[in-house]
Amino acid sequence: MRLLWNLFPIVLVAKTSASYLDFGIPASTATVDVRVFHVANATAVNETHAFILPVLPGHDSTSFPMHAFLIEHGISHKRLMFDLGIRKDTSNFAPSVTSLIPGVFQVDPHKDIIELLQDGGINLTSIDAGDMSKFANTTGLVIGSTTDTSTYPTFPNATLQESDFAGHNITKLDFTVAELTFSGLKAIDYFDDGSFYLLDTPGHQLGHLTAIARVTPTSFVVLGGDTFHHAGQARPQPQFQKLYPCPAHLLEESKSSISTDYFWSSGSRDGDFDILTRAQPLLTTSDLPDSFYADPVKADVSLAKLSTFDADPDFFVVVAHDSSLSSTIPLFPASISNWKETRLKENVVWNFIDTANPAFAFSPINSTL
Ligand SMILES: *[C@@H]1O[C@H](CO)[C@@H](O)[C@H](O)[C@H]1NC(C)=O
Ligand SMILES: *[C@@H]1O[C@H](CO)[C@@H](O)[C@H](O)[C@H]1NC(C)=O
Ligand SMILES: *[C@@H]1O[C@H](CO)[C@@H](O)[C@H](O)[C@H]1NC(C)=O
Ligand SMILES: *[C@@H]1O[C@H](CO)[C@@H](O)[C@H](O)[C@H]1NC(C)=O
Ligand SMILES: *[C@@H]1O[C@H](CO)[C@@H](O)[C@H](O)[C@H]1NC(C)=O
Ligand SMILES: *[C@@H]1O[C@H](CO)[C@@H](O)[C@H](O)[C@H]1NC(C)=O
Repeated sequence: MRLLWNLFPIVLVAKTSASYLDFGIPASTATVDVRVFHVANATAVNETHAFILPVLPGHDSTSFPMHAFLIEHGISHKRLMFDLGIRKDTSNFAPSVTSLIPGVFQVDPHKDIIELLQDGGINLTSIDAGDMSKFANTTGLVIGSTTDTSTYPTFPNATLQESDFAGHNITKLDFTVAELTFSGLKAIDYFDDGSFYLLDTPGHQLGHLTAIARVTPTSFVVLGGDTFHHAGQARPQPQFQKLYPCPAHLLEESKSSISTDYFWSSGSRDGDFDILTRAQPLLTTSDLPDSFYADPVKADVSLAKLSTFDADPDFFVVVAHDSSLSSTIPLFPASISNWKETRLKENVVWNFIDTANPAFAFSPINSTL
């Protein structure tokens, strides 16, 4: 995964809305293609509170997808994986991870990303950079320089193990020397041609990376990783609502489906929730002692910065475990690089408040069994 570019005549048109140029992202015509794998479904049993707050009665457990992203560089056809889902043999993680399965995390039987790639006819040795074991040692690993790389068994509590790194060429990104900053996030131009940027977004873990993939010269997919886990941590924000108004049927449904006992809005009346005047996202990042965010304060800062992309028409933000995307985001072999022309963003961003969507968590579930 190294990059190239060519120049393209830039036509400047007066625009009222923001564009990627306002984020400081340089113009380029070099692009990558983004394809999504749904590797597995998992459930965090009685652990919703470790991700998001508030947790309404009946929502103590939360199910979520594990997505992985295949990035292919347009010119060189070099490939990399961003996020890998979860390995099939969950007993082979480091003990600190295995001890959580299946008590805390239940992972449905599934195929490894390796098998999914092979089934899809993707040559594994063609993958230049990605993550962890199982890939041949021709695949390198790219991590933030502040990532905790201690491994089991040297460090008994480590979540990584020596076999994760063995034989792989490891590139540590040093953001202290990064010359680009987008929306306050330090960025590194991975292929050196403006097609794929890696961003420093600490919070979930130190060294946590996100990416901005340029899928057409003027549109981008933001790969948010674990910056947030539920769409309600990012939406709705006033700026977001201006550009992506809530569809009429969901606006109507949400009056009664979003509980005013738990969610406040200045325009709510007589128990009817008013999403239009909601001034902040519905959910907050868990800051409880057992939060899955190593540093919830830093995570919120990273989330706020990523949210500026969510509220911009040139960017489609996708996180790895967003259950509102299950069954709506096109999966491999389809590509999501055409998200703008297919209006994919408009079609999915409000799904999380639809009572029929698995992400819906805004009214209590009565346990009258
Ligand atoms: C995840 O769950 C959904 C809904 O039950 C199902 O359609 C899908 O096939 C599952 N995916 C995987 C990878 O298990
Ligand atoms: C989850 O919490 C419920 C209610 O407190 C309890 O009955 C159940 O055993 C818990 N499940 C697990 C796996 O801890
Ligand atoms: C897979 O890719 C590698 C490196 O690009 C190449 O050497 C090898 O011949 C490819 N194998 C197949 C089966 O296409
Ligand atoms: C490692 O685990 C031990 C025993 O559970 C615990 O006391 C210690 O605080 C842990 N250390 C770290 C760095 O998490
Ligand atoms: C990479 O893998 C090959 C084949 O498994 C092995 O022969 C070689 O020693 C490995 N190289 C490194 C640096 O681990
Ligand atoms: C490891 O990565 C560095 C930096 O990209 C590169 O210069 C070096 O050739 C790579 N080594 C191997 C064995 O792939």
